[in-house]
Amino acid sequence: MLEHDVIIVGGGLAGCRAAVEIARIDPKLNVAVVAKTHPIRSHSVAAQGGIAATLKNVDSEDSWEAHAFDTVKGSDYLADQDAVEILAKEAPDVVIDLEHMGVLFSRLPDGRIAQRAFGGHSHNRTCYAADKTGHAILHELVNNLRRYGVKIYDEWYVMRLILEDGTAKGVVMYRILDGKIEVVRAKAVMFATGGYGRVYNTTSNDFASTGDGLAMAALAGVPLEDMEFVQFHPTGLYPVGVLISEAVRGEGAYLINSDGDRFMAKYAPSRLELAPRDITSRAIAQEIRAGRGIHPDGSAGGPFVYLDLRHMGREKILSRIPFCWEEAHRLLGIDAVHQPIPVRPTVHYSMGGIPVNTDGQVRSGPDGLVEGFFAAGEAACVSVHGANRLGSNSLLECVVYGKITGAAIARYVQNRKLPEVNEQYYYTAAFEQIQALCDLKGKYRIAEIRQAYQDCMTEYCGVFRTEELMRQGLKELEKLQKKYTDIYLYDKGNVWNTEIIEALELRSLMIVGEIILTSALNRKESRGAHFREDYPERDDANFLKHTFAYYSPTGIDLQYRPVTITRFQPQERKY
Ligand code: FUM
Repeated sequence: MLEHDVIIVGGGLAGCRAAVEIARIDPKLNVAVVAKTHPIRSHSVAAQGGIAATLKNVDSEDSWEAHAFDTVKGSDYLADQDAVEILAKEAPDVVIDLEHMGVLFSRLPDGRIAQRAFGGHSHNRTCYAADKTGHAILHELVNNLRRYGVKIYDEWYVMRLILEDGTAKGVVMYRILDGKIEVVRAKAVMFATGGYGRVYNTTSNDFASTGDGLAMAALAGVPLEDMEFVQFHPTGLYPVGVLISEAVRGEGAYLINSDGDRFMAKYAPSRLELAPRDITSRAIAQEIRAGRGIHPDGSAGGPFVYLDLRHMGREKILSRIPFCWEEAHRLLGIDAVHQPIPVRPTVHYSMGGIPVNTDGQVRSGPDGLVEGFFAAGEAACVSVHGANRLGSNSLLECVVYGKITGAAIARYVQNRKLPEVNEQYYYTAAFEQIQALCDLKGKYRIAEIRQAYQDCMTEYCGVFRTEELMRQGLKELEKLQKKYTDIYLYDKGNVWNTEIIEALELRSLMIVGEIILTSALNRKESRGAHFREDYPERDDANFLKHTFAYYSPTGIDLQYRPVTITRFQPQERKY
């Protein structure tokens, strides 16, 4: 059996930042990061527009209080305000720390870190590295993992969280290269496994964003919090759905409908294209529904709107947002200096996740904690984003709460012994699980079921939701879940068997999708990204609370936890 003081699952920003913090605090601790891709290929690398922090380099009027208020208002008042205060206060220090690690931020002429406008932020506070900010930060963090001697298990798929008697004790993992199974025991386990964009058919997320950490936690009996809040990024490139950064609008681009109107004036007159994402995505979806979308031949009534950069000029486009220009050029042959880019909302981010306190320790329910189990980043819900996240607060959350969680873990493991784990039991269960997949003699390819599932989630639990639609969605999901045991794998071997990984990921997608739909069905109000056409108003009297969903194969139980309100009383949300 492998042994580590700490095992961190996930090699993106939150996991790497936690590992660095643990190693800085106590270099003697034996820390390992395990990830199903190489850490450099984690989805954090795809983050584009930036990281928010009140450095005041371009706006001396900014303050952490303004950042906290914008975040709480953006969250539609569902964020826990104690957690938001920490996020906003810590932001400048963590960004300067990244700079000291060597992150290549874009600069102002005087050499200080440049900052730009972003949706829902009242000041220009988003620090950036052109439109490749995640790439710049992740590379330096991974360099630092090596510097601090953190053990990296890359291209290992974690199959199971070992959680017994309210304590996390380790994980079971599968090496993709050759099918080797290992049981790992540890004094603390941290999940930083990212989001689940692939539950939907159109997403900015990479193929690996299948919600594995969320599903493993749910299967181990841990509740998932606020999973009904799925963020649609307004500007996914049509038709593929990859991200065209909000930075493009932050730098001045317009959204245009088939009449040539800048329609955001109707939906958010004071913020226009820089309204928060929930409002902007609904506005685009509404324009498309009303027949003011555009077809590829330029005629009205089509499935996208235009993102128009032409007035910005070549120099600005190629220096500030070169990657977005390149994406449109490479994927659609569009030169955004001269042509508008077709966009529509794309699934981008999970506001919900594994519930944690402000130390990153996982909650077992509205009141208790799980011993030895921590989480941070998109996989976690410390609830700084509530019902809708502001752009550039996600990288910030990964770094702030990655650091805090790392520090909490370093404290937690001091003077603790490794837990007792029955290696043979967990090894055999994993081996039999893989064998059972290879033995399936069904009639469906994995991709068929996965596509049908993603289409179903998109149709029944998208930007606009109703009770009728979601009930129908749950029935359809159930039919697809039954087909899981009716799949077959061509590849029965051990070497780089991606079909086994896809089968395990499909199980994760199915668990996460059911939790999203069930949580959404039971929230009978509209708040942030969760918009119910049958309950179009926010209902603070009944729903100013967090959903806790407990999964079991026979159904999902829901409980609720109150929102922590410190400084900002809920108000009507207008932009
Ligand atoms: O649009 C973007 O660049 C995305 C940023 C974010 O999700 O924070």
